[in-house]
Amino acid sequence: MLPRMDTEARVAHMNKILVALDVATPAEATTLATALRGAVGGFKIGYQLFTAAGPDIVRALVAHGDRVFLDLKFHDIPNTVAGAVAAATEMGVWMLNVHAAGGTAMLQAARQAADRRSAELGVTPPLVIAVTVLTSLDAAALDDVGVSAAPLDQAVRLAQLARAARLDGVVASPQETAAIRQACGEEFLIVTPGIRGGSAASGPDDQKRTMAPADAVAAGSSFLVVGRPITGAKDPRAAAARISGELGAG
Ligand code: C5P
Repeated sequence: MLPRMDTEARVAHMNKILVALDVATPAEATTLATALRGAVGGFKIGYQLFTAAGPDIVRALVAHGDRVFLDLKFHDIPNTVAGAVAAATEMGVWMLNVHAAGGTAMLQAARQAADRRSAELGVTPPLVIAVTVLTSLDAAALDDVGVSAAPLDQAVRLAQLARAARLDGVVASPQETAAIRQACGEEFLIVTPGIRGGSAASGPDDQKRTMAPADAVAAGSSFLVVGRPITGAKDPRAAAARISGELGAG
């Protein structure tokens, strides 16, 4: 089946920076969002903030008109994932993700739940993207769990599985982007963390296989997930503006 043809049109004119709100409290998240609103494309809420603060912080940002990428990487039986995706759709999230390793039936259930619940509510469905291979897994770690393919091949394979299930795109490391772009076409969204260098300066941290913002976009990234180079800066809005400037996005 073809991918969703409206995906690219929905994001074509957007600022490509999604800021990872990896903070412990809703107050910190609100302060960052207030500082960055209008200067970035959206905000990513992951395990830490969601587990600490729950859905209220998601609803609060959505109520401000912010785009929220709910990064909870759903991975369960299709019926359970469908329920979680329907609940996220009700919160008004702009993007959410699931693990491609959950298989075709689970991916299709996620897609259908997003489309069905948004149609019932009369709203635009969230973009549904898939995690392929966690970048923390190398060839040996994959082998441990019975996957003999090389990490890049496995990532491309799972990206193609997600595309066939009509998902909007994937999360991928900047190093995987070009191969996935070639395999899955121009319409497919590729969201890349691991952004460092260029105007995305940060102190030493745990990111290893990184790429500068402009290089990631040149390799085919649709959106850049940027955390500490923005959230750890003295002036987060100025840091976001520098990266946007490097991307030619104002
Ligand atoms: O602060 P930093 O820019 O490293 O934040 C990157 C964000 O992207 C974090 O929220 C991290 O959990 C997420 N992420 C990642 N690498 C992946 C998947 C997600 O860094 N492979």
